[in-house]
Amino acid sequence: MLDAAGLIKEIQEMRDEGHLSDALLRKAVRSISEEDRFDWVGVYLLGDEELWLHNYMGEPTDHAKIPVGTGVCGRAVAERTNLNIPDVSAEENYLACSPDVQSELVILIRAGEDIFGQIDIDSEAKAAFTEEDEIALIGIADKLAEQLAAERREAS
Ligand code: SME
Repeated sequence: MLDAAGLIKEIQEMRDEGHLSDALLRKAVRSISEEDRFDWVGVYLLGDEELWLHNYMGEPTDHAKIPVGTGVCGRAVAERTNLNIPDVSAEENYLACSPDVQSELVILIRAGEDIFGQIDIDSEAKAAFTEEDEIALIGIADKLAEQLAAERREAS
């Protein structure tokens, strides 16, 4: 089972040591992908009306850029919501990463109204993602958002 509390602590320790979001996002993807049920794990960041793939673990994907509103990833941003899709074959608005993927979970990286991006996870099992997974990943995403929000404040 994903040790969210442990990972959140490690991310905070990295922040305390002065690491920036780039290192934190890579650390999060690597740690989350250790979970066997998670076959592809990536972080997309939100640019100008488009998501771009920051880093991932798993097979290469054709979807390095996804317009807001397109696919499960783009829909999560357009609707400002997390999405737990138990059966991707039932989705009309879906971008296939691999034919083996059966279910997908998208958790937004956000601080209040500000959406910075998302954690995207694919599984080759149907309905792989539980409410417990969602809660764990929201905690991790919120910790990542703290750093992204701090960097945005510093840049403005
Ligand atoms: N399935 C996603 C695209 C991302 S790949 O799975 C890595 C979607 O429908 O937006």
